[in-house]
Amino acid sequence: MKVTIVYWSGTGNTERMAEAIAEGARAAGAETELLPVSGADASVTESDVLLFGCPAMGCETLEEGEFEPFFSAIEGALAGKKVGLFGSYDWGDGEWMRTWYARTQADGAEMLAEGLIVNNAPGGEDLEKCRALGALAAKAGA
Ligand SMILES: Cc1cc2nc3c(=O)[nH]c(=O)nc-3n(C[C@H](O)[C@H](O)[C@H](O)COP(=O)(O)O)c2cc1C
Repeated sequence: MKVTIVYWSGTGNTERMAEAIAEGARAAGAETELLPVSGADASVTESDVLLFGCPAMGCETLEEGEFEPFFSAIEGALAGKKVGLFGSYDWGDGEWMRTWYARTQADGAEMLAEGLIVNNAPGGEDLEKCRALGALAAKAGA
C-alpha cells in the first residue's frame, strides 16, 4: 500500500521534515510518494495512508495561497483514511496544529499520531521523530 506525503514549505523547514518522513517510510518498506502541494491533485486521496505537512502561517492558520485551497478541496475524501499531520512553527505554541488536527479528525480521518510539530528548522532528534512517523505510516499501510 502506498504512503503519500503532500507538503507546503516556504523556507524549507517543513520540506526537511517531509523528506525525513519519506526516508522513514521507504526504510520501512513502503512505496512512498513525496509531493510539494504545487505538484499534487485530488488523486492523492486514492492512497490509503496520507501525510500532510504545512507550517503555521497567517495567524495560526495553514498557508492560504496553495495549501489551504488544496486541503479544503480534498478533505471531503479523508473519511476512513489513515492520516498524519506535521509542520514547523516559530513563535506560537502549536495552535495551528491543534486546530488542523481537530478539523481532520472531524473529516473522519483515522489519525495515525498526534500532529508532529517542530520549532523552526528540525534538528537531529526532530528528524528521528519524522523518520519514526514515516515508519508508523508504512506499518499502518502494510
Ligand atoms: C507569513 C508568516 C506567518 C507566520 N505565522 C506564524 C504563526 O502564526 N505562528 C507561528 O508559530 N509561526 C508562524 N510563522 C513562522 C513559520 O511557521 C516558521 O518560520 C516555519 O519554520 C516556516 O516553515 P517552512 O520553512 O516550512 O516554511 C509564520 C511565518 C510567516 C512567513
